[in-house]
Amino acid sequence: MPDLKISPSILSSDFSCLGEEIRSVIQAGADWIHIDVMDGHFVPNITIGPPVVAALREHCSVPMDVHIMIERPEDYVEDFINAGADIITFHIEASRHPHRLLSRIKELGCQAGVVLNPGTPEDTLEFIAEMVDLVLIMTVNPGFGGQAFIPDMIRKIRNVRAMLGDRDVEVDGGIDPKTAASVINAGANVLVAGSYVFRHESRLEAIETLRHAGRES
Ligand code: DX5
Ligand code: ZN
Repeated sequence: MPDLKISPSILSSDFSCLGEEIRSVIQAGADWIHIDVMDGHFVPNITIGPPVVAALREHCSVPMDVHIMIERPEDYVEDFINAGADIITFHIEASRHPHRLLSRIKELGCQAGVVLNPGTPEDTLEFIAEMVDLVLIMTVNPGFGGQAFIPDMIRKIRNVRAMLGDRDVEVDGGIDPKTAASVINAGANVLVAGSYVFRHESRLEAIETLRHAGRES
């Protein structure tokens, strides 16, 4: 399995000082920074767009993991790559041409992955699995932080790990030390955590605890 990585989601951070919030979790050991882009159509919430990602670039010394929860992702990936995204994951449910979009993201020099909502089966990956750098499995329905982990997703994580070999399998939603241990056991190696990291009194301890969950499993 590839190295375990912790990718704090800034959705649960203080939006009035995002640069500082990012530097604080990097200092605490974050491997990637997870940026949740929402358009109010694909998901019932609106967050940030390419100008904010561009402004955050200089505060972010680790890869920017940009999760786009938007309709027509084809129309926006270039803007996010120009803004400095290192990794883009888009929802397979939102794209009519995921095969073409994966090629395009990679041609533009960015790592590319697809995201599966909880209700989307992993067999949609069959004909694109060869092309992805990573797969992100939603362990809650996208749109908000602080929701409860959906246990049935463990089975999906196991199946996706078997398809991807040594590539990254990322999980997002409801990750805390307990769920971290079970997703790692099932084969996930990139843990997105929003509320657990940003609401913890010590972000250093929060990130360490998630890593420790991995070592114990
Ligand atoms: C939800 C987002 C997540 C969110 C996770 O749509 O994609 O990245 O921030 O938040 P927690 O870790 O609080 O479940
Ligand atoms: Zn996310």
